[in-house]
Amino acid sequence: MRVKDCTILDLPKIADGRGNLSIIEQFKQIPFKIKRCYWIYDVPGGCERGGHAYKKNTEFIVALSGSFDVVINDGTNEQTYHLNRSYMGLLVPKGLWRVMNNFSTNSLALILSDTEYDADDYIMDYEDYKKWNNQR
Ligand code: TYD
Repeated sequence: MRVKDCTILDLPKIADGRGNLSIIEQFKQIPFKIKRCYWIYDVPGGCERGGHAYKKNTEFIVALSGSFDVVINDGTNEQTYHLNRSYMGLLVPKGLWRVMNNFSTNSLALILSDTEYDADDYIMDYEDYKKWNNQR
């Protein structure tokens, strides 16, 4: 997988005078079956999340509230996606190094995953990630 395999996907936004509503259904707005949903919140100013790669896990990240950056690196190229809308998200295929930072106050990151949690799926060291990536 390469940085260019990440995609920003638009979600439906149903707006009326009472507020907006957006939707994610598996295999419709996102191309995978949802096995896991988690969210990141109350991130202290200046803190960073992620800083690892998943060997098998693909994910979809939405800024439900506030904003943050998702920095994707494939060992060669790097791209930063600024997420700040609850009607779009970033599809991050497996096999990419990712960091989340620049969280705004009260930001809320929703992450949908196509695998259950598995500590063995993580590559925690960037040099190990590059070696693993080169061997594929
Ligand atoms: P981690 O994935 O390292 O968080 P981040 O990438 O945002 O920095 O997870 C932090 C802790 O939470 C770690 O102890 C593992 C645990 N955890 C679970 O138990 N289940 C999960 O689905 C996730 C994502 C994390």
